[in-house]
Amino acid sequence: MWPGFICCLFAGLALATLPGSENVEYTYTVRGRTFASLHEVSDSYSGILYKAILRIQPKSDNKWIGQIRDPKYSQVHSMLSEGWHTHIPDGEVSWKPIEFSLKPFEVILSNGVITDLVIDQEVSNWESNMIKGIMSQFQLDLKGSRRIDSEMGSSETGIPSVFKTMEETVTGNTETLYEINELPEYLLQSEEYDYLKDRQGRVMEVVKHKNFSNYVELPSYAFGFGDLEYEIPASNKMGAFFVRSSFTRAILSGNLDKNTVHNSYTVNKIVSSPTLTDKKKGMVVSTMNVTLESFGAPKDTIPEVQNPLHVGNLVYSYERPYARSSQVHKKSPYQHRQQFDIDLERRLRASNMGKDKTLTKDKEMRKRLRRSIEQFGGSMMEEGDLSQSEENYQNRKPELNQAPESPLLPYTMAYKGVSIKKGVDVVKTVQKIAMEIGDDLQNPPKVADENTLNKFTILTSLIRVMSEEELTQAAVRLYTQSVGDAKSFAWQAFRDAVAESGTGPALLTIQNWLLTKKISSSEASQIIYAMWQSTRQPTEDYMRSSFEFIKKPEILREWPLNSTAVLSYTDLVRRVYVNKRNSEKEFPVRSFGHFRTEKGKNFVAEEVIPYLSQKLQEAISDADTYQIHTYIRAIGNIGHPLIFRAFEPYLEGKKQASQFQRLLMIMSMDKVAELYPRETRSVLFKIYQNIGETQEIRVAAVYRLMYTRPPVDMLQLMATYTNVDEHEHVNAAVKATIQEAAELEGSEPHHFEM
Ligand SMILES: *[C@@H]1O[C@H](CO)[C@@H](O)[C@H](O)[C@H]1NC(C)=O
Ligand SMILES: *[C@@H]1O[C@H](CO)[C@@H](O)[C@H](O)[C@H]1NC(C)=O
Ligand SMILES: *[C@@H]1O[C@H](CO)[C@@H](O)[C@H](O)[C@H]1NC(C)=O
Repeated sequence: MWPGFICCLFAGLALATLPGSENVEYTYTVRGRTFASLHEVSDSYSGILYKAILRIQPKSDNKWIGQIRDPKYSQVHSMLSEGWHTHIPDGEVSWKPIEFSLKPFEVILSNGVITDLVIDQEVSNWESNMIKGIMSQFQLDLKGSRRIDSEMGSSETGIPSVFKTMEETVTGNTETLYEINELPEYLLQSEEYDYLKDRQGRVMEVVKHKNFSNYVELPSYAFGFGDLEYEIPASNKMGAFFVRSSFTRAILSGNLDKNTVHNSYTVNKIVSSPTLTDKKKGMVVSTMNVTLESFGAPKDTIPEVQNPLHVGNLVYSYERPYARSSQVHKKSPYQHRQQFDIDLERRLRASNMGKDKTLTKDKEMRKRLRRSIEQFGGSMMEEGDLSQSEENYQNRKPELNQAPESPLLPYTMAYKGVSIKKGVDVVKTVQKIAMEIGDDLQNPPKVADENTLNKFTILTSLIRVMSEEELTQAAVRLYTQSVGDAKSFAWQAFRDAVAESGTGPALLTIQNWLLTKKISSSEASQIIYAMWQSTRQPTEDYMRSSFEFIKKPEILREWPLNSTAVLSYTDLVRRVYVNKRNSEKEFPVRSFGHFRTEKGKNFVAEEVIPYLSQKLQEAISDADTYQIHTYIRAIGNIGHPLIFRAFEPYLEGKKQASQFQRLLMIMSMDKVAELYPRETRSVLFKIYQNIGETQEIRVAAVYRLMYTRPPVDMLQLMATYTNVDEHEHVNAAVKATIQEAAELEGSEPHHFEM
C-alpha cells in the first residue's frame, strides 16, 4: 500500500523508497471526536474532541516508523445544531495536552495490510489503543489480499472494484466490504479536495463498511442481552436495542500498488433504543479523520523503538483498570493466527482455482475458514461461542471483594485508561450523589426532572468500580434508621444502587446488610431479587458465596426472604450454568471468559441439586406445604435433566407425596423442557404412557410434552392410542395438544388418524 509509492513522485525522491532509505516523512493532522447524545430528544451533546500530529517515515514496503506529536483534547458539552458532525472552531474550545509518552512506534505490513504494531513497553495501554485507532485509518487492503468473497481469477483487476475482506482495525477483526473507485478530475477542482494539491497519478476513493456480524475478534463489553435469543452482542444489531455501524472513506493518489493516503475518515456509530416502546434513540458516535499536510525530506529521523513489544494487531486491547501499571500488553495468539489466516486463505484459494468449483461459494469457503481457524484455536464465530484463545486478551475474573475490571465502561477506563478511582475519591463522591438524590426525592417536582434518574445511573456506575471495603465505608456514612427524610432517601438510593450494580463487592455488602438487619425483611426480598437479576460477573466464588448465603439459618427463618432467596438464586444458577446460550450472552464473556465452567457445572450437580432435594424431602416429611412448593419450584428453576432424579421417587410412587405436589413437579419441568427437550420428552412420555397413573398427572404430562416439541411420529403414536385409552381427559388433552401442534407447524397440517 501506501508509502512505497514515492519513486515516481519527484525525481529528487526517486530513491527514497528503497528499503532502508530514510529520507521521506509524511505529516498528517489527526482529528477525532466522541459524542454521546439522545439526539432525537435534544441537540445537547457531550463528549471529547482530540487532535494530534502524526509523523510517518517509511523504512521499507513492510515497515514504517511513526510518532505522535502534540496530542490535545477538549471536553465538550453543548448544543450542536447540526448534530455530531457540527464544525466546532478551535477557538471555541479549550485544548489541554494529553499526557502521552510520544515514543516512536513501528508499523509492520504485509502485502499492504497492517499486520502488527511494535510499541515501546513503557507506553501505556491507553496510548497504545490510541495509536491503533489512528493507524486503523491506514488499514487499506487495496488488492484484497485478505479477500473472503467468492472470486475467480485474480483480484488485481484494478478500478472500480468491490470485494469483501476480513480485516483488523481497532474496532475488531471483521468482515469488511470494499468499494474502490476513481474520482473524476472535475470533482477534484472543488474546495473540498484542497488537500489533494500535491497528488500524483490517479485519485482513488476507497469506501469501507464493517460488518460486525461476521467477525473473528470483536472486543466488546456486553451485558444483559441474554433474553435476545438469536442476537450476538456487539454485532451489527442486537435485537431492537442497538445498531452498530462503521464506515470509512479514504482518498488516495497513485495506483493500487503504490500510493499515498491523503485523507482517511471513519465514523463509528452505535445507536440504541433505551426501551422498546420509546421510539427515541440515543447514540454514541466517534470519528477519526487523518489528513496529509505535507511530505518531503524529514528534519530528523524518528528513532527506532527502544523496548519493542509486538502487540499483535490493530484490534483494541482491553484496559486493566486497577493494575498498578497500565502498560501496553500483548495479545499473543493473534500473531500466529494472522499468519495462519493468510496461509489458509492462500491454500483455500489455490485449491479453488481449478478443480472444486462449489467450494468457491462464498459461504462454503467462509465455513471452512472458520472451521480451520477454530481447530487452530482461534475464536468461533457461530452462536456467539468463544474459544480458549480469546481468553488471552480477556481480563482476569474478578476477586469477589474487588471491583471487576470491566472494560469499555466509562468509569473503569475513561480516566486516562485507568479507573476513575485514580482521579477522584469515590467514597466521597458516592456519598455526595446519594445525598443529592435524597434531597431531590424530598422535592417531587425535581424528581420529574430527568436529572435524578441520571444521578441514580451515575451512582450505580460508580458503585461498580468500588471494592467491598469502599462500599462499607460509604455505607457507614449513609446508613440511617430514620424514615421519610432526605437522609433516609439517600440511604435507600444507595442501597438500591448497590443491588443493581451486580458486582461481587455488592453481593458481600448486601449479604452483610441482611444478616445485620440493616434492611427490613419486607424490602429484603426485592433487594435480593434485584441483586441476582443484575449479576454481572457470576464467578465461581460469587455463585458459591450466594449458595452459602441462602443456606444460612438467619435467612431460612425469615419470611418471605427465605423463599425469594432460593427462587432467585436457582434462577441465576440456570442462567449461568445450565442455559449455555444465555450464559454467553447475558454475561460479559468476551471480557472475562466463560462463567459456565466445568467446576461450576459440577457444583450444580454435586451440591446445589442434592441440597435442594434434601430440603424437599425434609419439607415433605414435615408436611410443610409452603416449603414443599418453594423447593419444587426451585428445583424446576435449575432446568437441568439431573432434576429428574430429585422428582423421580415421588413421581414413581417410591416416596409419598400428594397428587397436587406430584402435579406441581410436572409443571415445574417447564425450564428443563425448553433447554433439554429430548431428555424431558422421554420422562414425560413415560408418565403419559403409564395407564396406572392418575388421569390428572397423565394430562399434565401431555401438556408439558408440548414444551419439548415432540416429533410427528410420537404425536402419531399418541393419536392412535386415543382409540384404546380409557382415560377420557387424557384423550381430550392429546387431541387438543396435537391440534395446537398442527397449528404451530403452520402451512402443512398433519393428518392424524384418531
Ligand atoms: C454480515 O454478516 C452476516 C453474517 O455472516 C451476514 O449474514 C450478512 O448478510 C452480512 N451483511 C452484509 C451487509 O453483508
Ligand atoms: C478532515 O480533516 C480535514 C483537515 O483537518 C478537513 O478539511 C476535512 O473537512 C475533515 N473531514 C471531515 C469529513 O470532517
Ligand atoms: C420461611 O420462613 C417461614 C417463617 O419462619 C416458614 O414458615 C417457612 O416455612 C419458611 N420457608 C422456607 C421456604 O424455608
